[in-house]
Order: sequence, then structure tokens, then C-alpha cells
Amino acid sequence: MRQEHQLYHASLEAVDDQSINPSTAPSLDSMVNQSRRNLLKGSLAVAAFGFFGGNLLLSREAVAGTSPLLGFKGVAAQTSSTFDRVIVAPGYTAKAFFSWGDAVLDGAPAWQPDASDDWQAQLQQAGDNHDGMHFFPFAQAPNSRGLLVINHEYINPTLHPQGLTFTQDATGAKQRPIDQVRKEQAAHGISIIEVRRDALGAWQRVATSAYNRRISGMTPINIAGPLKADARMKTLSDPSGTQVLGTLNNCSMGVTPWGTYLACEENFHNYFVNRDAEDYQQRAEHRRYGIGSGLSSVYYAWESVDARFDATPYAGQQHNGHCNEPNRFGWVVEIDPFDPDSTPVKRTAMGRLGRECSVLSLHANGGMALYSGDDSRGEYVYKFVPQGRFDPAQPQANRLLLDAGTLYAARFNADGSGEWLALVWGENGLTAENGFADQQAVLLNARGAADVLQATPMDRPEWVAVHPQSLEVYVTLTNNPERGERFAVDAANPRPDNLHGQILRWNEAGGDPTATRFTWELFLLAGDQPGALDNEGQPIPEHLTGTIKGDIFSSPDGLAFDAGGRLWIQTDSDEDAAHTTNTGCNQLLCADPVSREVRRFLVGPWGAEITGLTWTPDYRSMWINVQHPGISYPASDGTSRPRSTTVLITKDDGGVIGT
Ligand code: FEO
Ligand code: CA
Ligand code: CA
Repeated sequence: MRQEHQLYHASLEAVDDQSINPSTAPSLDSMVNQSRRNLLKGSLAVAAFGFFGGNLLLSREAVAGTSPLLGFKGVAAQTSSTFDRVIVAPGYTAKAFFSWGDAVLDGAPAWQPDASDDWQAQLQQAGDNHDGMHFFPFAQAPNSRGLLVINHEYINPTLHPQGLTFTQDATGAKQRPIDQVRKEQAAHGISIIEVRRDALGAWQRVATSAYNRRISGMTPINIAGPLKADARMKTLSDPSGTQVLGTLNNCSMGVTPWGTYLACEENFHNYFVNRDAEDYQQRAEHRRYGIGSGLSSVYYAWESVDARFDATPYAGQQHNGHCNEPNRFGWVVEIDPFDPDSTPVKRTAMGRLGRECSVLSLHANGGMALYSGDDSRGEYVYKFVPQGRFDPAQPQANRLLLDAGTLYAARFNADGSGEWLALVWGENGLTAENGFADQQAVLLNARGAADVLQATPMDRPEWVAVHPQSLEVYVTLTNNPERGERFAVDAANPRPDNLHGQILRWNEAGGDPTATRFTWELFLLAGDQPGALDNEGQPIPEHLTGTIKGDIFSSPDGLAFDAGGRLWIQTDSDEDAAHTTNTGCNQLLCADPVSREVRRFLVGPWGAEITGLTWTPDYRSMWINVQHPGISYPASDGTSRPRSTTVLITKDDGGVIGT
């Protein structure tokens, strides 16, 4: 979700970028300069010790335009507010493939262009706002048959014929129609669709596949790990604390080595309210995550017709009514796409965050880490290290690996070193005196625990990507206009009023994903080139210029490596904002991690976020998502009005994408 979503401006507030972390620090120009100097020093020091390993060091600073990794011709930025297409590099084709409302289940009602579909129909059709996704190949034909698993992050007002209807009751609390709320819940979650190449080699959705499945905001999901059956997970409608209805705000994702999908619950706070001001203040698992504290939830007001979203602890109700319902969101949700009858599982050992992603780094010895960004201003980067190791010979044991392990938050020191701070109860101040009664309390309020450990507040951590050979880790920090005010500038977040974001990378000590030390550096600062002019011929202010070698962009978000070591970057900026005059529509770019050259591969329509990317194992077919296109980009039927759409990209000569 973008930080200032234009489709909502008319009636609703932006909800993705609010600061909840109470960290405050003065803005000091001297700190900016100091941090820039440290950044430079840190980069050089790290380079001298071999940040990436010997042979790659030689070409670390190659000249833009010469990367041997980037085998395509770049495309221009699109800065017109009437731009309504997808442009991809010459020699490639991008085709709308799977749009909001397309049938998922066999026999699903046809999508109605006037959005008159009811919620039962929506439960059988593609949800809204496609985001993270993954292609799971079939072993027998891995490059021509697979399951495409796609997150549906949230909903647009276009879900209903007349947009979202809000009224007020006598107290001023927002009220919603139940039919709209049910359809909104149905449009969240995940789609699983089988896709195959036909006799002509063209990819098709398999309408009748038994694997096709919709998981929504209503689907029963089991709770596993340390918080299973815990008192803090019990509610009026689930006195056992073992099963929750639905997964919400699934943004990015991850994949396990045992072939399951990890959907991540990001901005869950928008769906809940606690109207008891006194209780709200002392209940960290509500307050620290920013759920609604007034009369209504931050955003959807589902609580007006669905009591489980009203987290007020009303006296006399078993388990304080639905007070604990927000505790049941913010988790990693594990889904087995090849078992359509399986119940998804929320893995509580991994901690509760506004979780963007859960990205695997797997060492040859079976040791592993799963990295997550917590995407709000001033939140942290985390990793979860399972206690056990992955062993392909132990498929049943692997299924339990996410139920026990250690959650860490990252501290990025100014000298280029870094530490993983263990969120372990009883250690380093994570004690009852500081509000943590046990390890379960630490996991429920991982943000608060990371505060105590003095993790580094970051500029909105989004996706993480791990280099396939070196296991070097990259994270997008999308932007943070409050840096320098609410949050002090530092080496890892060096720009005040950071409107363009940055990409940071690190190497774990010894190349071991389970290590507790690392060395880091900034890969790039996004934004205009130094000396660039705006469209009135005026110089761009220095804090809006970055260090990109090659094609510029703003607000990096989606991030993934292909097997060849190309780093693919997707953006989520507000094209209407003044600072994006030159970066224009959101885009997909490709970077060489060695030379740092960046080249623009694709530009999407005005009003859309470009997010989600996956490939077939041969990297000759790629899918990306165009989320909430604003003007007239056609959906998968080629004609109907714009809707969030999965787009298939192939190279016209059948070659590997990007080469
Ligand atoms: Fe849903 Fe942080 O993007
Ligand atoms: Ca974003
Ligand atoms: Ca995102």
C-alpha cells in the first residue's frame, strides 16, 4: 500500500505511514553531516575488508551503462498524469493475466463491471489489490505448470458500485452496511490459481483446477507456536484461543524450503478499535500497534456490524469480549498451496509486527533466517532464526521449524557494523518490570521489546531480498518524511525529510544467516540525480537527490533477486507529489549489485503501485502486480475498467528475463 493513496483522498485518511513508534529525537544538521561522513567511511572500511568477497570487489564501482548483468534496453520514466499503460523494455511483452474479480473457484459467478457482485461471489473470485506472490512449480513440468499464489492486501472504494458507504450513529461512531463489510472481508486474503502453458506455449489460468482456492478475511486459520491457546489469544467467539477467522492486509510474503507460502499481515491495526481510553493507554499490544482509539477503527469501521473488530474490553463478557482479537493479527500465515484442504497456520513464534514480508536465507548447512520489515515510520528490521535446521530428508520435522526459534531486531551502528538483538524474555530488560510478563508478551509486543533493546528505527522497512549466491541481504526503506524531526537522522537513515527512500544491504558474520553480527552499508539513496532540475528549471533540493547510478526512482518497496543475481526493485511512490516530478509513474527496475547500476525495465500506469514479482524456475516467465491502477489500464479481459491485475511478462525470443 502506498503512503498517500490517492483513491482514498476523497473520503479516507492515508493509513500506511502513520508513526506509532514513540521514539523522538532532535533534528541536528551536524548529525546529518556526521552520518553522511560515517556512511562514506563505513562503506570504504567495509569494502576494504571484502564486503562481497574477493573477486567481486574489483568491479564494485563500474560505470553506469556497462553492466554485463543488465541485458536489456531501459525505458523512459513516464511523468504524464494521463499515462495509462504498462511499458516494458524492447523485446519484451507484458500482458494482463489475472484481475480483481476473475474467477478463482470453478463455477464462480462472472465479475460484474458495475461491481454489483455480492460477497458470496467475491469469495469465489480474485480479491483486490494484488501484492506479494509466488509461483510454485509442479515437479513434472516446472516451467509450464504451477500454482500462482497471490496476496490481496486491502480494498479499493471501487469494490462497491458507489464506493464505501459510511454513516454515523448518534454517538458519532462510523457505521457500515453489512453487505459491504462482508464483501470487503471476502476481497482480502489470498488467491491460489493453477496456471499452465497451452499447446501454443501461452500461459492460461486453469479454471477447473482442484488446487484453485480463495483464503479470505473469513477463512478459519489455526494458531500455532507459543501463543496457541494462550489467554491473550482467547476471545468471546474463540474461547480456546486456537483458531482465528481470516488473514488481513497480506502485503509481501515469503517461501519456505519445504514448499509452503508465508503470507504476511501488515497494516492490521486499521481494522480494530478500542474505545476505552484508559485501557488503551495501558494495553501495549493495542497502543504500540496503533489500532483505533476513538469511536471507530482507523479505517474500515467493520466493528459497526461485526463485533469481533471491536476490541474494547467490555465488562462481563467472557475473555473481555473481543479485546484480544487484534492480538490474533500481525503474524506470518503459513499456507500449503498443494494441499487445498489444509488449514493455514499463524506462526506466533515469529513475533507480531506490522509485517511486510518474511524472506528466507538458507545456508547449505540447513541453518536459516527469515527476514521481515515492519513497515511504519521508525519501525524495525527483524529476523527469525528457527531453533532447528532444514533437512530435506525430514519433511514432517520441517513443518514444525517455524514454531520454535529466536526473534531478533536489528541495530545498525554508525561504523558499518550491526547487531541482532535477541527478543528473549528475561534478558536485557525484557522483564516484568518493563511490561513483559513472559516470552509470549515479548512476541505479542515485539515492537515494544525492540524499543527496550534499542533497535534502530528505520525509514519504513518494506521488502527484503537475499542474494542467491552470497546470501547478502538487501532491504528497501521506502521513505520517511519525519526523519530529522520525530526520528533522528543516523547512518542507516541519513536524510532528513526522506521522501525518496533508500536500499541498505548487509552481510551476516561468516556468511551465516543465524549470526548475531553483521556488516552493512547503504546500497543507494533513491531520488533525483545531483544537479537535476525540476519541470520549472529550478534545481532539485539536495535532500531530494540520491546516489543512483542510472535510472532514477522514488520509494523502493518490492525487492527480489533472480537466480542470475539481478536485483529487481519495485516502487510505490505518490506520482501526484511535487518531489516525484521526474520519477513519474511507479516502475520496475533492475540493479547490478556489483556495479550498482540501475536500469528501468517497466513503467506502470498512473495511479498504480508496482508490486509482487515471481518467475518460473527457468526465469523465462515473470509475473508482477499492478495494484490499484487509476485511469484506464485494461484488466485481464482487455476491455473493462481498471482493476488490480497480475501481469505476465515474457521475452519475445523466449529467453531469460533481463538478459
Ligand atoms: Fe503494504 Fe508496506 O506495503
Ligand atoms: Ca509501500
Ligand atoms: Ca509494500
